[in-house]
Amino acid sequence: MLQRPRRNRQSAVIRSMVEENRLSVKDMMFPLFVMEGQNTQTEISSMPGIYRFTLDLLLAEIESCVKLGIQSFALFPQIPESKKDSMATESYKKGNIYTESIYEISKRFPEISLLTDVAMDPYSSDGHDGIVKDGQILNDETLPVLAKMAIAQAQAGSKLIGPSDMMDGRVGYLRQALDEAGYSQVGIMAYTVKYASAFYGPFRDALESAPKFGDKKTYQMNPANRREALIEAELDEMEGADFLMVKPALAYLDIIALLKENSHLPIAAYNVSGEYAMVKAAAQNGWIDGEKAMLESLLSIKRAGAQVILTYFAKEFAQLKLA
Ligand code: PBG
Repeated sequence: MLQRPRRNRQSAVIRSMVEENRLSVKDMMFPLFVMEGQNTQTEISSMPGIYRFTLDLLLAEIESCVKLGIQSFALFPQIPESKKDSMATESYKKGNIYTESIYEISKRFPEISLLTDVAMDPYSSDGHDGIVKDGQILNDETLPVLAKMAIAQAQAGSKLIGPSDMMDGRVGYLRQALDEAGYSQVGIMAYTVKYASAFYGPFRDALESAPKFGDKKTYQMNPANRREALIEAELDEMEGADFLMVKPALAYLDIIALLKENSHLPIAAYNVSGEYAMVKAAAQNGWIDGEKAMLESLLSIKRAGAQVILTYFAKEFAQLKLA
């Protein structure tokens, strides 16, 4: 036999020498949840090990993550039901918990990267990512709300916004609004290919943001579609995105690879809440080795082509202190 692939697998050193992909904590972005109040943290029952923090405790949490080498974070707010309305006005009110958090985090940790979320759903009494009228999700009417939100976040110190709403044209609209307001340095990580997925359930528990009626299929993509992802990618790229994101990650590795081949922009992938919950639940039952399953899943996302991995596993990974 001329070729014996097993020769390159015969020792740990050789295996490591021919290893094509290696995970680093630098690949990862850690999603965090902030809520109003003081000195409180609540575990999200469908996401073991993940908490909502009040801002004071969140700052301490970020500090401990930074010590572990985590350099980038994504932040989401849980807004009390009493502050939600159909126009998501809380999202751009001065001094709201979200912009206050952005301000404090940016001041205290100027060296980190913080992705700030632009979407109506945490603040919407309808639980949708756009303005609802007669059961329809309005597209163009939603764009100015998103722009107000993005500018409020930029004013608070955000350097990277993440439109996660899937309205048409929002990347270009936000790019122009930011530029006109003097924030041409603020980047956009676009949620470019976001599927209408069953894997967002635990996240909606964390924010109490589930849609009050219907589903998100008129704006999020059909899981059956692959070529359509290229349309979304071309549009976001033309409209000025700095990163393209695929979400969820594990059930869409082919889409990550597709975007990687078809764009020169950095590709991000969101290893979403349900994907995290599945590994945790099986591990708690003793059905799989949770740590190994975590490492293998994260590696598969990197191998598929993601340069940035948003994952609830980031801290647990960092704690392993692998190189
Ligand atoms: C909504 C948003 C969602 C997530 C991030 N932003 C859920 C949704 O579209 O309903 C999900 C993230 C996760 O599940 O971890 N703007």
